[in-house]
Amino acid sequence: MNLVVALLLAIESSCDETAVAIVRGSVGQATEVLASEISSQIPLHREHGGVVPELASRNHSLHLRGLVEKALADAGVAMGEIDAFAATTGPGLASSLLIGSTAAKGMACAARRPFLGINHLEGHLLSPFLDQTQVPPHTALIVSGGHTLLLDVEGPGRYQKLGSTRDDAAGEAYDKVGKMLGLPYPGGPEIEKVARGGNPRAYDFPRSMLHEPHLDFSFSGLKTAVLYTLQKEKGQLPLADLAASFQQAVIDILVQKTLRAAQQTGRRQIALSGGVSLNQALRQAFLVAGDRAGLEISVASPVFCTDNAAMIAFAALLRHLAGESSPLGGDIHPNLPLV
Ligand code: KG4
Ligand code: ZN
Repeated sequence: MNLVVALLLAIESSCDETAVAIVRGSVGQATEVLASEISSQIPLHREHGGVVPELASRNHSLHLRGLVEKALADAGVAMGEIDAFAATTGPGLASSLLIGSTAAKGMACAARRPFLGINHLEGHLLSPFLDQTQVPPHTALIVSGGHTLLLDVEGPGRYQKLGSTRDDAAGEAYDKVGKMLGLPYPGGPEIEKVARGGNPRAYDFPRSMLHEPHLDFSFSGLKTAVLYTLQKEKGQLPLADLAASFQQAVIDILVQKTLRAAQQTGRRQIALSGGVSLNQALRQAFLVAGDRAGLEISVASPVFCTDNAAMIAFAALLRHLAGESSPLGGDIHPNLPLV
């Protein structure tokens, strides 16, 4: 096995995206993404207003083989050249995780190469550094549909939890408020679009837990405040103002808590990842606040913010280069914590 330069193939199937990626990398070098294929199931789940687990897993199994073949062709790599195979083994939907991890284990077994089971959150966490030569010490904010997590990162594999949501994740709040406003699933990108024409100060929605000393989050009060306002509004719904005011509350909470976390831990760099970090207004607010506080802000490239397999391949590559692997008999873990 060549531990100097390694080729990794990874599968991500924890929720409603089926994804396969191939990366090449070595210690201290920027990782090359040779292929990153994604088959999104969003249109399929949209008519149900959210993800239907059985539909998701059936579609993963329908698309996986084609995506693996396309990834190999796009990367110009033969299956026999892959040094290790990886898949997301948690957290996520059990039936979806099983499809990707079983496929990756099967390939690893047939090729007699190592398998690596990767935590989906570690994939998001490391994604801002995919094209860098190293993962520096920093404060990390993962904001996705399932998680809102603040971590202190010493380096790869050395994470300490600083705070997390006590109820809804930030993306979940976007999706639920999107539904209330009659917008299609997922609500995040739809609210961002509608909010562009609105006044973010039109409604003074609550910034829950902002002034409490801990670093946890809460978004359910904000969601309920939007619901009550909707019930009170008569006549033409001020959709753009509601969306912009909701979004501003989410941004204020995320930016202020994350900056406080960096100040408390003494880190000089903040990294954002996960689907919600695709939000331009959020990225801009972090850049402005970071600039003011003298902190460096790193954000995952837009194609690596929402679920993808390149981030899983990158996390697996770092572990593989460090000599790690996972047992083929290992299980999936729908509620797998990162720390
Ligand atoms: O990371 P991700 O693809 O999947 C999970 O691991 O959850 O994140 C999906 C979440 C959804 O809640 C979606 O509404 C949100 O990310 N999202 C956004 C934007 N794009 C996706 N939220 C706010 N603004 C966006 N532009
Ligand atoms: Zn995700």
